[in-house]
Amino acid sequence: MPIEWREGDRQLHLHNGQISLVLRVLDDGTLAQLHLGGAMPADRSYRHLGPDPFEGFSNRVGEPVPLAYPTAGTGDFRVPALVVTAANGSTALSLRYRSHRIRAGKPSLEGLPATYVEADAEAETLEVTVADGPANIEVDLRFTIFRDRPVVARSATIRNAGAAAVDVDGAMSLAMDLPDADWVMLGLAGSWARERHVVERRLVPGRQSASSTRGASGHQHNPFLALRRPTTDEAHGEAYGFSLVYSGNFLAEAEVDPYGATRVRLGIEPDTFRWRLDPGASFTTPEAIVAYSSAGLGGLSDALHSLFRERLARGTWRDRPRPVLINNWEATYFDFDADRLVQIATTARDLGVELFVLDDGWYGARDDETTSLGDWFVDRRKLPNGIDGVARRITDLGIGFGLWIEPEMVSQRSRLFEAHPDWAVGVPGRARTESRQQLVLDMARPEVVDHLESVLADVLGSAPIAYVKWDMNRNITEPWTLSLPADRQGEFFHRYILGVYELYRRLTERFPEILFESCAGGGGRFDAGILAFAPQGWTSDGTDAVERLRIQWGTSLAYPLSSMAAHVSAVPNHQVGRITPLATRAAVAFFGVFGYELDPTVLDEEQRAEIVDQIAFYRGHRELFQHGRFVRLISPFDGERDRAAWLVVSPDRRHAVVGTYRLLSRPDPGPERLRLRGLDEAATYRVTTWPGFADRLSAANDGERSGAELMTAGLVLDLERWETVVRGDFWARLFVLEAVPSAG
Ligand code: DGJ
Repeated sequence: MPIEWREGDRQLHLHNGQISLVLRVLDDGTLAQLHLGGAMPADRSYRHLGPDPFEGFSNRVGEPVPLAYPTAGTGDFRVPALVVTAANGSTALSLRYRSHRIRAGKPSLEGLPATYVEADAEAETLEVTVADGPANIEVDLRFTIFRDRPVVARSATIRNAGAAAVDVDGAMSLAMDLPDADWVMLGLAGSWARERHVVERRLVPGRQSASSTRGASGHQHNPFLALRRPTTDEAHGEAYGFSLVYSGNFLAEAEVDPYGATRVRLGIEPDTFRWRLDPGASFTTPEAIVAYSSAGLGGLSDALHSLFRERLARGTWRDRPRPVLINNWEATYFDFDADRLVQIATTARDLGVELFVLDDGWYGARDDETTSLGDWFVDRRKLPNGIDGVARRITDLGIGFGLWIEPEMVSQRSRLFEAHPDWAVGVPGRARTESRQQLVLDMARPEVVDHLESVLADVLGSAPIAYVKWDMNRNITEPWTLSLPADRQGEFFHRYILGVYELYRRLTERFPEILFESCAGGGGRFDAGILAFAPQGWTSDGTDAVERLRIQWGTSLAYPLSSMAAHVSAVPNHQVGRITPLATRAAVAFFGVFGYELDPTVLDEEQRAEIVDQIAFYRGHRELFQHGRFVRLISPFDGERDRAAWLVVSPDRRHAVVGTYRLLSRPDPGPERLRLRGLDEAATYRVTTWPGFADRLSAANDGERSGAELMTAGLVLDLERWETVVRGDFWARLFVLEAVPSAG
């Protein structure tokens, strides 16, 4: 069994040969976390890894005892996981063991997204109840270990067992103490159209964090944090990944204490959170995932990718091949009518596209950003026969039809706002800050969620809609809700996101055949929480191929390729003005859920032929691109090299596609090799290049090569040295590797 209780040591050990978590009840009942990381043998005592005997914090105030769920005010001066303000105003808390239970499988978290199992045998869950007597607070700490994954899932339920109301002022989903600080902290940071760039820093004494207070996880930081040893690289060394299954305000933090120990915290951002617990009431935190790898950052990504793809994403579209789509946004913006859409769809269909998406501008009287959000009825000036009319013209072409919506928003110029001005988030007596000329609906109010479910279900049921893009284009200001009294306004942000999840749950359950794609001005809410409802997300509004290399590389640290929508767009690129070759744009976008974001009717014959080839290529390797193992080779963040490379390989390692990219060309370069990883060294692969030019690059590489050669000598990429290989910036080439059946 992966969870073992040693009565004599009062020790709990969760283990599966890939990861170990050791908890121990110390002498005074404090729950210590003696180890979380590399696998350790079962059936042994590890009590010597913690204080034994434990005489409390009083002997050496602030001593770095590794704790499972730390609190404040009773001797531990590091940042706490739980802060509760009792009826008398005190925040001192000290949690002591009461009981524990071990059960097969994994419980769900009411109202919250979470990873899951399909059979109880896939995981085992430990629930430990700890309590503070004077404050009458009980906490159930849950730890799930998956049988076949180097992953532990954590959450906590805080209960008020007393007779007076208390306030929860901070409740992390996880805290984890590590005995040293020899770590580099990795985060995913950026802004609109340049989300999730990798940022790294060596841990230093004190607190270092990433967070959001915007009401969404945000473009700026991601609810993901990794720690790696300074010597860890993509393939070797220790690394931890911490991911919060949540889409609202979050905090991801590492604190190094004066003794050089590290505490990691991950959970709801505490400064914008306060939750009232009446007597008998409880609060459950979102889930946090800890993954451990001894095979570098690549091993960490493998663990998170397969968990998120197989046991976080759910529904009909979890395992299905995702369609190659075209979206009309960058082709038309708000300026279209039915004929124009059908013209784009027809041309795209002829090129091989499988689904057409009608983006913003189909409803109310929406000709620009000033109006109509909330009015989810069709604009008959543009679409005289309604959504159904245009959808049927497009499905009659033999391709699917998809629709954009932005449920959580309202324009001041809209019928919805006229009817329900109080449904928009804002503080009475204070001007509302507008952003993109729109306001946010108060998703904390059940009547708003009910209304949206009703009007959107009408739309989605009115036409043959196969796909929905759920957008969210601004963050929350003047946070306040009519639904709560003054002393409970601290609940607003969390209740908002619970309302979003509730609407997602209802619509995805009512329309199980629809493929939902999340979006928030691109990648402004790209997180593990939303992935539980929408198996893919619009990775970024940044569609420039060079920028996308960075975005997709960073995103891939935590999230699988099946979650990353990636489209070829027009040049000059609409966000940065860069002109990149069409082949390069495709060679980047292939590594994700592929599509187009341009007007195919204005392309010339040669460009259309190229697109036909691109779509055929992607469809031929779709299973690999959407479900293969992604291996990062050369980072686009390595400014010295001006290169990037990655590959995707099938689980049986018999099929791979390598992407190699030159960002900027250099004069007088030396010879260059690209050593691959993740292949079968004993296999022989047939190597072909794409696009299939007969040049020195293909001459040097095409043919049969052993896996051993490809991983030691590598592919030959003497790009600029060869006159026959086009010189210049933004160049890309793919290599397809197919294992050759072995003789006999
Ligand atoms: C932001 C999205 O990221 C774009 O793709 C597009 O859907 C616009 N919103 C529409 O308003």
